[in-house]
Amino acid sequence: MGKVKGLLFVLLTLLFVTSCATDKKANVKEEFDSATIANEGLKFFGEKRGIYIGTAITEGQLNDEKFVEIVKKNCNYITPENEFKWENIHPSRKVYNFKKTDKLVAFAKENNMKIRGHTLVWHSQNPYWIAKPGTTAEELKETMKVHISNVMTYYKGQVNDWDVVNEAIADNGELRESIWQLIIGDEYIEHAFKCAYEADPNAKLYINDYNIEDINPKSNKLYEIVKNLVAKKVPIHGVGFQFHLDGRWEPDYVSIRANFERFKKLGLDIQITELDVRLPKNYSEVDLNRQAKIYGELMKIMLEVKGSAFIMWGMTDKYSWVPSFFSGFGGALIFDEQYNPKPAYMKLKEVLVKSK
Ligand code: G3I
Repeated sequence: MGKVKGLLFVLLTLLFVTSCATDKKANVKEEFDSATIANEGLKFFGEKRGIYIGTAITEGQLNDEKFVEIVKKNCNYITPENEFKWENIHPSRKVYNFKKTDKLVAFAKENNMKIRGHTLVWHSQNPYWIAKPGTTAEELKETMKVHISNVMTYYKGQVNDWDVVNEAIADNGELRESIWQLIIGDEYIEHAFKCAYEADPNAKLYINDYNIEDINPKSNKLYEIVKNLVAKKVPIHGVGFQFHLDGRWEPDYVSIRANFERFKKLGLDIQITELDVRLPKNYSEVDLNRQAKIYGELMKIMLEVKGSAFIMWGMTDKYSWVPSFFSGFGGALIFDEQYNPKPAYMKLKEVLVKSK
């Protein structure tokens, strides 16, 4: 099986390089020679096109040399997958645990990568001490403020992009009934952004969510919230679109583009923050090619709307969250479990190489 995949990769590379060489004949001067196309990773071409290429990563994965090599070659942006989450970084009121985040921040620094603080305020992965029966809105607002202030101040100048509020909208298109919303009320979002700005006025502050990729009730609600924040001059700089997709079918690219554009018109940055495209575990070549097309089309849209980052929720299927959350699914990322590049990897490279 490994040999077949290896052969498939060689064939794909040859096909890709040949297709670029054919283009070369048509153009007087080609931007990249075939050796550059074959040898450079995604980040090289991303830099040329003005878009960061990123991955989720855990502190434990830093010990996997092969994985680290792939990340260094392809990415100039990382998002710690779990380490910045409240229960990990601030497990009890007086205790902050910066050990793992420090390692990831140092890794980013050593390798000239941007790093995302994911996430400050979320409905999930919160420790129990945050609230108890009878906790008032004022008390919880203060707890939030202290957390945001301490975490962001600690990493001031080192972590610049923050998912300030994550997954605030429920799947029915209403505000999610989180601990924050239930105790503080809808204004918790505004409060979080104001606290973040106060902690680090130079940081880029994002709201991040899933199933908001195209125009639908959930993204409409987010748009309404964000538009209000902007109108009230609440410091918010961008929207993170997670993109955890089901790769059995293609998304509505026209709607995705229109959605991105309406947020852009509010003056906000657009990022794809957690892309993966899951497939049934026994996926076929047809599935892999559809998956590649989805990755490629999304990159094209991002380049067209000038989004600033294209971040995938991992690089290799070996470490993906997908199989443990979606029974019967896997194969969602651009390298397989043996670290072989998949057609989606080749497609991303092709799109980056060819778009000007
Ligand atoms: O670290 C503990 C370990 O000590 C324990 O033995 C084990 C037993 O279950 O759990 C381990 O923690 C798990 C953690 O991942 C690290 O592997 C948690 O149970 C598990 O819930 C957690 O899942 C993460 C999930 O968010 C919830 O925080 C996934 O790795 C992570 O990929 C996923 O990421 C989210 C984004 O943050 C937000 N958007 C959706 C995305 C996918 O769900």
